[in-house]
Amino acid sequence: MKGFPKKFLWGGAVAANQCEGAWKEGGKGLSVPDLDWHNPNLNRAGKRDEDSEMTSSRLEELMKIHDDSQFPKRNGIDFYHTYKEDLRLMHELGLKCFRTSINWARIFPNGDDEKPNEEGLKFYDDLIDTIVGYGMEPIITLFHYEIPLNIVTKYGGWKNREVIDMFVKYCKVCFERYHSKVKYWILINQINLIYVESFNSLGILCDRVENLEEAKYQAIHHQFVACSLAQKAAKEIDENMKMGVMISDHNCYAETAKPEDVFYTYQKNQMSQMFYTDVRIRGSYPGYAYRFFEEKNFNIEMTEEDLAVIKEYTADFMAFSYYYSRMNSYEKNNKGLNDISKNPLLKASIWGWSIDPLGLRNSLNLYYDRYCIPMMIAENGLGALDELTEDYQIHDGYRIDYLREHVLAIKEAIYDGVDLFAYCPWGPIDIVSCTTNEMSKRYGFVYVDINDDGTGSRKRYKKDSFAWYQNVIRSNGEEI
Ligand code: BG6
Repeated sequence: MKGFPKKFLWGGAVAANQCEGAWKEGGKGLSVPDLDWHNPNLNRAGKRDEDSEMTSSRLEELMKIHDDSQFPKRNGIDFYHTYKEDLRLMHELGLKCFRTSINWARIFPNGDDEKPNEEGLKFYDDLIDTIVGYGMEPIITLFHYEIPLNIVTKYGGWKNREVIDMFVKYCKVCFERYHSKVKYWILINQINLIYVESFNSLGILCDRVENLEEAKYQAIHHQFVACSLAQKAAKEIDENMKMGVMISDHNCYAETAKPEDVFYTYQKNQMSQMFYTDVRIRGSYPGYAYRFFEEKNFNIEMTEEDLAVIKEYTADFMAFSYYYSRMNSYEKNNKGLNDISKNPLLKASIWGWSIDPLGLRNSLNLYYDRYCIPMMIAENGLGALDELTEDYQIHDGYRIDYLREHVLAIKEAIYDGVDLFAYCPWGPIDIVSCTTNEMSKRYGFVYVDINDDGTGSRKRYKKDSFAWYQNVIRSNGEEI
């Protein structure tokens, strides 16, 4: 098909923990992102923040800091109180869909509570009604790292099998309450990111397990089972609901055409990306994963019932986030899935994220060829340091350039035959960064005047990119 489908969902995506704030309001429990500490001496282009793998002692230290301004996600952009006004701006932008998450700790403050917290549900009743009221299709993520902290400290995170039931119970509450309003659900945000994160994604404290890598794969098995059981529950409640699997796409290129570079890069892509979608879409563990476990001597406990439910309840659509591509060399990058090289042929943002629109077309084709199910781009965008001028303008031509190239690549992929139904640029309104916990890494079409230390007027201003995206949507991708 040439051009975008008529009912294409042009959207935007945020996550509760990065925008809502109100971390202690409405009966919410403490959750993992509430402890995401902002390092004022951050090395932006360097390695991920030291807290992406957490120890018990570091957690204790963080719990002793009582200055909220050091934890920007606690206040976010105060979306909990400003969502009506913010969503009005999203409506003015022309969004056809809006992706956000439900914060698990607002619904089950401790994760293991007997009954859900009605006040938390009430907030999401109003939020979802507002999204729908503005004519936007809500896309709801059920787990965007918002694991109740009690599940981490008392149960050891997703490594513990008991967490499956807690998650499914929480999902059921949401499905029952919102099935008539929410059609598209993403069960777990970026389910594949376990190779860089054990704390955010899985709630595992590294010193509490014998073998961290093995523990991560045990935990991911529990997430697979939980997703299929949640999906089973959803189908029983209302079969019109659609359940998506989502990964973070960092497809790796081989550094050279040397067969070793090509093959070992393929293997890296298998275990860091395809493994997750193969299980959730094809319904079984691929042979290369069993081999990976065997060669590492991992003993992943899985029952026959687990494998049966995984087989029966597979994802209805595939979603992925796309920010950059990666590069791999057999000789230089042999220290694991996250050991990659910088691609010298691509420019990068100051956070070191390479800019590669053709990589997006490549991934869309790759996944669609493999799975042939409807696809959604759940996140994409350029994090940048924007400047608010004295007359309250934000001239973000660099963002327009980035998005234009990516939207053009998507258009080509649709022409290639990919069945894509939604595109959600990340953070259509500025929110706190996930990886570096700073406000300065901005993605929005709307600027939010808050600084890294929480100061600022909190006012919202439209950036130049606002009018650009508005026109892309209005013309359904004809004017890019
Ligand atoms: C994705 C996450 O990995 O990347 C989002 O799902 C996150 O939560 C986004 O915000 C961009 O990362 P960052 O660190 O630039 O906010």
